[in-house]
Formats: sequence, structure tokens, C-alpha cells
Amino acid sequence: MGIAAFSSDGGLEARPLTPVVGAEIVGVDLGAVSEDQFAFIRDAFDRYAGLLFRGQDLTPERLVAFSRRFGDLDHAPVMENGRTAVPGLPEVYLVSNIKDTDGKEIGSLGAGEAVWHTDMSYLAAPPDISMLHAIEVPPAGGDTWLCGMNAAYNALPPELKRRVEGLRIKHDGTYNSGGYVRQGVTPTDDPRKSPGTYHPVVIAHPNTGQPLLYLGRRRMAHIEGLDLADSEALLDELWAYATREENAYRHSWRVGDVLMWDNRATMHRRDPFDAASRRLMRRTQVKGATQPKAYAG
Ligand code: OGA
Ligand code: MN
Repeated sequence: MGIAAFSSDGGLEARPLTPVVGAEIVGVDLGAVSEDQFAFIRDAFDRYAGLLFRGQDLTPERLVAFSRRFGDLDHAPVMENGRTAVPGLPEVYLVSNIKDTDGKEIGSLGAGEAVWHTDMSYLAAPPDISMLHAIEVPPAGGDTWLCGMNAAYNALPPELKRRVEGLRIKHDGTYNSGGYVRQGVTPTDDPRKSPGTYHPVVIAHPNTGQPLLYLGRRRMAHIEGLDLADSEALLDELWAYATREENAYRHSWRVGDVLMWDNRATMHRRDPFDAASRRLMRRTQVKGATQPKAYAG
């Protein structure tokens, strides 16, 4: 990952947020992105894996329109309230603890911690990109963290890199990152039997070719072919390299922020916040252009 700041003729600038992941793009209105500016943003996204745009005033329709420039969108997963999406905009997912007049939460993930994960990787073809737009933010807490999965792979000792070659991990489809059971799933406590998809432990980024540690989520994960105890031990060893603080960017939200991340090259988590305060994010997810593929070395 090239980490120096760089700028384009279109007046945009990419300012790295940490040495390993994330950059802030300054000088752009996401409601009116020119072709040149979009080319700059695409390039920066491959380079930094996470991008921040501050001060964006976007309708949900414009968020959808900007997201679509990266590819077809996935429909939002069914939310915890049983609703599929925002009426008329099936691509928009709401992440929120706000309750409607019936006392039902309007979105997902509540106010608790969302543990480290990547989005929807229980699918065979998970979304490549997720994008959050901050509409309401609490006065404290609710920070979102991104970690870099190329740096995580690079940090593995050579012996561990060899040990995981050719192995696959089950990405569980039972629980979302807030610990809620997904719609239509009956939970089991055996990760070998739970719904989900096995993906290679190390994948190649389709655009950059970089090796990425691809962990998905820790709960109910399983390494194919290993008994449970060996699988748990190896997973714990791998996870310890991914979620180190020096491998992460911590984002404190302001209204109008857009944060987008690459679901293969990063994982993310969210700090809890006071349930009495309000937080509302709109999210879109760009369909996977390819299924995650093993890194060939
Ligand atoms: C998500 C997610 C965390 C947050 O939308 O996929 O994990 O900060 N959100 O709301
Ligand atoms: Mn998520």
C-alpha cells in the first residue's frame, strides 16, 4: 500500500489516516463527482482500502447514485426489525438505535459494540465495498474502527503463513456483528454445522493482487478439516495479528461524514455508545464483482 499523500489535477487530495489503512479525500462533493475525480477516488480506494469524505450533504438517492459508480449494489440485508429496507430504496440499510413511534428500532445494530467483522461474508459472493453516511451521531462513543488486512497478512510469521496455505475458514451466517441472530436462522453452537461459506484464509485482492488475511468474523468461525480445538487455536492465533491497534484507524464521527471500506482489504468494528442518545447511518453495499480467490503466492 503506497502511503504518501498524493493529489490530482481535479483538485482532490488524499491524506493518509494511518500508516497502514485509510485516507481522507478532501475537495470533493460526492453529489457531483466528475469523471476525473472519480478516477482519482477509485485509485485512492485501491491504495488505502478505506476512504473518508467529510461534510457530505447527500440524499439517500445521491448516496445510492455515488455508490453505483463502483458497481451494482446489493440489496440491504433484512434488518433486525424484520423490514427489508427503506421504502422505495432496497439498496439502503439503516444502522441505528433510534425507535419509531411504536417503539420498534428503525435500523440495525442497536447501541452496543459491533465486534470486528467484514460485511456479509457468509455469502459466496460478499459485497466488495460498504459505505456509511452519518446522519445523526451521538455526543460520545460509537466510533468505527477499520483494520488493514494486507498489513495483518504481512505481520504473520513465515511459519504461520505456510501453515494456513490452502486452508479455508467458514464465515458464519448465524449472527450479525451486534450479536443478533439473522432473520430465518436457527442458531446452533457447533461452528461446523452453522450456515455460512468457506473462503480461503488468504485471498488476493482482485485489483492490486495483494495478499489479504480474510477472517470475516470470529464467532462461529471454523477452519475446514480441523477438529474444533485445533481450529479455535489457529483462529485465535490469526486474529491476534489482525486487530492490533497499530493496524487500525479509529474514526470519530461528525454529521455528514461518509466512510467507505473494502470488505476484503479491511475489517471493521464499532464502539458502544449511550443507548439514550441517537445515532443514524445510511449504508450501501457494492456487489462483489468476483468471489474471494485464494492468494497464489
Ligand atoms: C456496518 C457496520 C458499524 C457502525 O454498517 O456494516 O458494521 O459504525 N457498522 O455503524
Ligand atoms: Mn459491518
